[in-house]
Amino acid sequence: MSGNLSVGIHDLSFSTTRFVLTHATLAAHNGTDIGKYHAGIGQRSMSVPAVDEDIVTMAAAAAAPIVARHGTDRIRTIVFATETSVDQAKAAGIHVHSLLGMPSATRTVELKQACYGGTAALQFAIGIVHRDPSQQVLVIASDVSKYELDNPGEATQGAAAVAMLVSADPALVRIEEPSGVFTADIMDFWRPNYRATALVDGHESISAYLQAVEGAWKDYAEQGGRALDEFRAFCYHQPFTKMAYKAHRHLLQNCGHEIDEARIARAIGLTTTYNAEIGNSYTASVYLGLAALLDNADDLTDQAIGFLSYGSGSVAEFFGGTVVPGYRARLRSGPHREAIARRQPVDYDRYRELHEYSFPVDGGDHPAPKETTGPYRLAGLSGHKRIYEPR
Ligand code: COA
Repeated sequence: MSGNLSVGIHDLSFSTTRFVLTHATLAAHNGTDIGKYHAGIGQRSMSVPAVDEDIVTMAAAAAAPIVARHGTDRIRTIVFATETSVDQAKAAGIHVHSLLGMPSATRTVELKQACYGGTAALQFAIGIVHRDPSQQVLVIASDVSKYELDNPGEATQGAAAVAMLVSADPALVRIEEPSGVFTADIMDFWRPNYRATALVDGHESISAYLQAVEGAWKDYAEQGGRALDEFRAFCYHQPFTKMAYKAHRHLLQNCGHEIDEARIARAIGLTTTYNAEIGNSYTASVYLGLAALLDNADDLTDQAIGFLSYGSGSVAEFFGGTVVPGYRARLRSGPHREAIARRQPVDYDRYRELHEYSFPVDGGDHPAPKETTGPYRLAGLSGHKRIYEPR
């Protein structure tokens, strides 16, 4: 490691889908009391991809403004984290590399460990920058969360991509050592290669998440991390936003702190604002929490933020970061709010059609309808190849 070198998130940008389904629409269809969605799980709406949108088009849309602002001269690595991969062999990041016209002198790889993969990508990127501080790493976390229709998980679907530029002397957040890490072999959520939708034992996944919070925090404390009181806010992985509150209460209790709801709301509230509208974005979720906090909080300069990343199966990591002076001038709050606001609401029948759509798998030419309003689209499948193009 290079001494006291500061490494972290230099830029952050996210994108989501063209369409949105409100929980009010879902509740009207399935007869659920809307209170369960709005108050019980803390969700208002979920992003729904058009047929010509996927993890690649969202990722390219998220990364394009970063490449436009910083250029590609220093980016020698792209790490793409996802659990909704579009190919078993080829890294989705190669399509992004191509769409953004990045130099051939780039290493590109895909990472997977359920919703935790984005944090692995961030930590590996930090290692690369410590080895050579002149380099930057483009980290992308992009996912489409999809459960079967009428399954309890259906209300926690969503889709988004977060792109982060990791560099020395970052402009947004310095990521600190140590990290607290945790792995446990558990089947709380998984998706066999032959399935398009995830399998989940929802209540089991909540307990597994809480157990992982405890384990990651225990290791963090043993590694000599900060005291809980030092953190101004906490960004948790949010499969649904109420989970962040459950996790934080659990951590406070575990550390012998009293449960003060006003204080918990102050530590968590703003991190849930984007996720409540977008839904679960798996690997991207914890970093959408960070985007929402940075975009919407009063000045956080020099404040410590705690991060808890959880991926079913399961792996968790707790680490801290410090917000860098001058960060507000580098935020993308306007485009972020616009990405959420411009989504077009769909009715239940249209949502169902999009949910159930899949391309034929016969290797023929299957163009996709032109639907996305984003900068890149999936043009279709041909000869079993996914063809992407700028819109
Ligand atoms: N008004 C207000 N709150 C209500 C309500 C109403 N009318 N009806 C129910 N609720 C509350 C419940 O009390 C519960 O809150 P609590 O957890 O604080 O007790 C919450 O809403 C959810 O209700 P529940 O009966 O547990 O819902 P469910 O059986 O449909 O399951 C999930 C909810 C979250 C488990 C389910 O959506 C799921 O499986 N999601 C996927 C989980 C996931 O993504 N895991 C990935 C890794 S973490």
